[in-house]
Amino acid sequence: MTTTLITGANKGLGFEAARRLIAAGHTVYVGSRDAERGRRAAERLGARMVQLDVTDDASVQAAVKAVEADGGLDVLINNAGIQEEMRDGTVEIGALDLTADVMRKTFETNVFGTVRIIHAFLPLLQRSAAPVMVNVSSGLASLSLVTTAGIPAYAYPGVAYPASKTAVNMITVQYAKAFPDMRINAVEPGFTKTDLNAHSGIQSVEKGAEIIVRMAQVSPDGPTGGYFDAEGTLPW
Ligand SMILES: NC(=O)c1ccc[n+]([C@@H]2O[C@H](COP(=O)([O-])OP(=O)(O)OC[C@H]3O[C@@H](n4cnc5c(N)ncnc54)[C@H](OP(=O)(O)O)[C@@H]3O)[C@@H](O)[C@H]2O)c1
Repeated sequence: MTTTLITGANKGLGFEAARRLIAAGHTVYVGSRDAERGRRAAERLGARMVQLDVTDDASVQAAVKAVEADGGLDVLINNAGIQEEMRDGTVEIGALDLTADVMRKTFETNVFGTVRIIHAFLPLLQRSAAPVMVNVSSGLASLSLVTTAGIPAYAYPGVAYPASKTAVNMITVQYAKAFPDMRINAVEPGFTKTDLNAHSGIQSVEKGAEIIVRMAQVSPDGPTGGYFDAEGTLPW
């Protein structure tokens, strides 16, 4: 039996990944910062629910205790994320308007939140026979892609969100080296219609969740320290 925790799984890509992994036989914890939204999502999915705000130490510690008491964790999916610079599907805070506050808020969730969760759940993962971590990154994390003229990533004017996801990629490779017995990978779901972008994305959550679900089920001899979308390896 594989037990999986997905942060920010009350909606969007996390919710869809939960649905698919439950169908594949995983016991899934829907992590949700709002207990009521999480409860409703878990009820629809047939999942467990754990209240968890990735920016809040106390809630994360309580979540660790709850998951540990119920038997531990095999797969951690760091999915919770925000795109602070975007409003109604448009990037409103580009280089000219970026403030340290916007940068800090973005990093609080996407970067420090991810590290908080990893640090808190590592002891549980280390007790698993086949521990897996999936860090939901973005194509905008790639220095190679955002500097390749003519592709959509190049045209993205925001700074904070791409920088936060580049940090997620670095976190991924450094943890993968530190824990060679775990499979730890970063994934890019693709531009997906969710609340994150006011549903301006170009693909469904079914398609977007594909690579998250695949890397959550990676075998112990599968890749680690990689960066993938549904088509294969992405350039850093
Ligand atoms: N959609 C895309 O095109 C796209 C592309 C590449 C990467 N991604 C990444 O995919 C991941 C999922 O995004 P999505 O598109 O599914 O967006 P979404 O529908 O807005 O879902 C984001 C989830 O993160 C949760 N969240 C935000 N801050 C949190 C916090 N402090 N603690 C716990 N949960 C928190 C949200 O909870 P609430 O409901 O409480 O706000 C929600 O459940 C993100 O990491 C995003 O950067 C998305």
